[in-house]
Amino acid sequence: MFTSIPLNKYDFCLSKLLHPKTNSYLIDSHGRIIKNARISITDRCNLRCKYCIPEENPNWVKKEELLSFEEIIRIVEILNKHGVNKFRLTGGEPTIRTGFLDLCKNIKQIDPKIELSITTNGIKLFEYAETMKDVGIDRINISLDTLDKDTFYKITSRNLFDDVIKGIHKAIEVEFNSIKINAVAMNGVNTDLNTLNEFINLSASTGLEIRYIEFMPFHGNNWMDEKSNGYISSNDLVNKLQAHYTLEKLHEQNPSQTSRNYVIKENSAKIGFISSVSQSFCDKCDRIRITADGFLRPCLHEHKEYDLKTKLRNGATDDDLKNLIQSGLNKKWKEHPDFLSMTYLPLIEDREMIRIGG
Ligand code: 5AD
Ligand code: SF4
Repeated sequence: MFTSIPLNKYDFCLSKLLHPKTNSYLIDSHGRIIKNARISITDRCNLRCKYCIPEENPNWVKKEELLSFEEIIRIVEILNKHGVNKFRLTGGEPTIRTGFLDLCKNIKQIDPKIELSITTNGIKLFEYAETMKDVGIDRINISLDTLDKDTFYKITSRNLFDDVIKGIHKAIEVEFNSIKINAVAMNGVNTDLNTLNEFINLSASTGLEIRYIEFMPFHGNNWMDEKSNGYISSNDLVNKLQAHYTLEKLHEQNPSQTSRNYVIKENSAKIGFISSVSQSFCDKCDRIRITADGFLRPCLHEHKEYDLKTKLRNGATDDDLKNLIQSGLNKKWKEHPDFLSMTYLPLIEDREMIRIGG
């Protein structure tokens, strides 16, 4: 079983070249080096996407149970010291937590080489995009499942489509290093040719990259219904597009990249597919998650969590915290089960997606 590996003299020099601050990396029990942390900073959201939030009584985290920004910074520092250089703030909706822009600034001050990104539903982008760029956010992913106002309402139960569109245009104006639109593929909702065309036209006219994510099973999202009716594979979507467009496959630039990307020859639109269900990418997983209430969750789909918050609040040293993180990584599973197998059922005692962090 791996622990965080202390390096010998030669490796130590090498590691100085690779990562000047650390003499050990966080490596899981299957030899995967952790480079990427997704930190949920709130479980609240200003939308109510049907597949994400339970319809009745979401069990919101109490304010005092949320990690404070100081606690988040401490965790980021420890992770960064051990080679994690990509951080993504998620939620719920991260832009609705008061002070999140200061948090971003403070994360960037830990090390300007940190790549900081955010996943947002875009509602607050019109208001914040400029400051988000100023405080150092490099990349943004905007979750948007449709370009049709009525369908947006059906999915999210909120009439805020126009705000998202205004926000997207503001983000384009501000020129982040990368802006991607992520749509969860739901057969019968947003995978018809008309919707695909709308997204493709948006990409062709703005240069934004669109990515369809296969619908993943989580507790609370009625996977069994979706499995029989709503799930559609990336391959089916690619085939659907190929009947109308010429798709040119792009080569992977980054080995831990999760999407298969294409350019549409006819209009230069960029479209990608994240096939977490049909072709999982566990073998190159370099990420961990921190929940808004302060648990390390080594895998999105595995219900094993490690209580960093209690340790933090009981005076743990940086080494204590790092050791807890490493012990979680030592138990991370190799891969999630095959969600499409007849016997697969999401764990009923698990958190819903909104409380894990997207
Ligand atoms: N399957 C795939 N993606 C999901 N998301 C939320 N629930 C699911 C699911 N069941 C996505 C959101 C957003 C990100 C936070 O996670 O749409 O893009
Ligand atoms: Fe909010 Fe995103 Fe969940 Fe929709 S998917 S409810 S936008 S956190």
